[in-house]
Amino acid sequence: MISFAGGLPAPASFPDLSTAAVPRELLQYGASEGEPELRLRIWRELADAGLVCAPEQVLVLSGSQQGIDLVAKMCVDQGTAVALESPGYLAALQVFRFFGARFITLDPDRPQQLLQAPERPALCYVVPTFQNPTGRCHTAAQRERLAHTCMTGGITLFEDDPYRDLVYEPCDLQPVCSHMTSGSWIYQGSFSKTFAPGLRLGFLACSPDLLPYVTRLKQAADLHSNRLSQHLVLQQLQHPHHAQRLMNLRAHYKARRDHFAATLHHALTPYAEWHIPPGGLFFWLRLKTPVDTQALLQRAIAQGVAFMPGEPFFHQPPQDRRNYLRLNFSHASEEETEVGLRILADLLDACISEQPR
Ligand SMILES: Cc1ncc(COP(=O)(O)O)c(C=O)c1O
Repeated sequence: MISFAGGLPAPASFPDLSTAAVPRELLQYGASEGEPELRLRIWRELADAGLVCAPEQVLVLSGSQQGIDLVAKMCVDQGTAVALESPGYLAALQVFRFFGARFITLDPDRPQQLLQAPERPALCYVVPTFQNPTGRCHTAAQRERLAHTCMTGGITLFEDDPYRDLVYEPCDLQPVCSHMTSGSWIYQGSFSKTFAPGLRLGFLACSPDLLPYVTRLKQAADLHSNRLSQHLVLQQLQHPHHAQRLMNLRAHYKARRDHFAATLHHALTPYAEWHIPPGGLFFWLRLKTPVDTQALLQRAIAQGVAFMPGEPFFHQPPQDRRNYLRLNFSHASEEETEVGLRILADLLDACISEQPR
């Protein structure tokens, strides 16, 4: 199967992890908040990114997906209004929906509309940097406006930022939470995309008012995150070649993105339109002629190609919900990309020509 479906990092990008000299004490239970040295390191990196807080405000997570679960448990009850972008990150939509959220669409250009909504949202979830699925990156003005809206409206801001290190063009990367000079906020990041998702490690920082609740929820969920993973990630972060490794990773994915864009242009221009994502792992395609993307997926799978239909990413499906596809460019090789996109183009051509005129 040639997969453009998941957000899988390239296996070649995984670091060589040395498990030879793991201190024996790491086999014991650890602190719910995370290993102190790792928390300090994350805290320093957050400060470099412009997010100033105390080291105690940083918690290690078992993957940033856990942060979504903990925040939903803390903030969302049956009927709670939650604002988010449409389309938005599918697995966040599913978690919020599970806890009973009612969704309100966040327009990044007009966040102040949230203050006029019939019911003001309690929580605003946003992926401002290389969003999943669209790859779009918020401008500095959009970031400031969103923070201002959350502060004036008493809306808890939940910023999810797993793609910030996978940057290929100059973009504003300053965390929206760094503009929150008052109010409640949670910022989270992940080690999945830059190290390895199998380590299941992420982190969050939050405003002091939320800290006791998030810490207790973390404790209740799993006592603490895997100490071996924390040790391995800290070793990588402290490695003298860490900065160079990140630069190589960006160069590798940028080349993949550019090859994917050129192949898309060659194969799919008659059928779809898209923007070149300035970072992250996905292309978001809008079909020029609507087709049933679920039926297209079944036919693609039968020919050994997988992708994500766009529809499930919308919390309120728009009229044209069936017109979108999300394609991951980091996992398939260049040869697979060429074969896979050609198959998709031929299938789109067949679907369109079969439609009644
Ligand atoms: C926006 C977003 N948030 C969170 C996650 C979960 O990542 P993790 O592997 O850190 O749990 C993903 C994974 O793709 C994602 O795209």
